[in-house]
Amino acid sequence: MTHCTKAFEMFLSPFPMFIELYGKYYKGVVGNEIELGNISCDDMVLCIGGGPLPCTAIEIAKHTGARVHVIDNDPCAVKIAKLVVEKLRLKDKIKVMLADGESVDIQKYSVVHIALQVFPKDTILKNILNKASIGTKVLMRMPKDGLKCLYSKAAECSEINSCKCIEQNKRCTMKATLLFIKEDKNRHEKKDTAVYHRSYDRNNTSVAV
Ligand SMILES: C[S@@+](CC[C@H](N)C(=O)[O-])C[C@H]1O[C@@H](n2cnc3c(N)ncnc32)[C@H](O)[C@@H]1O
Repeated sequence: MTHCTKAFEMFLSPFPMFIELYGKYYKGVVGNEIELGNISCDDMVLCIGGGPLPCTAIEIAKHTGARVHVIDNDPCAVKIAKLVVEKLRLKDKIKVMLADGESVDIQKYSVVHIALQVFPKDTILKNILNKASIGTKVLMRMPKDGLKCLYSKAAECSEINSCKCIEQNKRCTMKATLLFIKEDKNRHEKKDTAVYHRSYDRNNTSVAV
């Protein structure tokens, strides 16, 4: 799925009109994530897995005024994404870099966003939660149940005490976006249960990560 999306984004990248149309798919999704993460102009955001068309980063930068860094581990995707950001005159708000989510240093970021197609999600999530400062917000997209086999899974992570979640549009490939906040372990003696921001399944009150 990652390779298909990337190839599709590379194909669209020379055409500004198609970039805009493709961006519409992300508008509502990212709007929900901005609300869930309460992202503002004071935040420093890292988007992991920006792809050739870093629409998530573009939406966050445009609608919040936050400074956004985007990483991708594919040099070709990074090269194209840099050109797209330049073409859209967003160079002062968005910086695109070659790096891997498994090893990237995230200490300076207050919000970290993990794209749906990023892999391996469990190692990336562990890396982030190990290195993050207390209070860092981590947003992670989850696939629809029927599409789970096409994406990397995030196994249970001991660093997580609780999470919030927002349901995504039924017509997109994402079921929901989860929000984890890096907590001070010493302040929590026992684990909290998952908290819902908006329930996406009225019969199920647990969040399968
Ligand atoms: C095709 S994009 C889709 C993202 C979408 N354009 C957005 O704005 O949210 C997914 C990208 O994630 C990148 N990726 C996958 N695993 C990664 C990892 N471990 N670290 C960094 N980038 C990764 C892939 O190279 C691919 O370009």
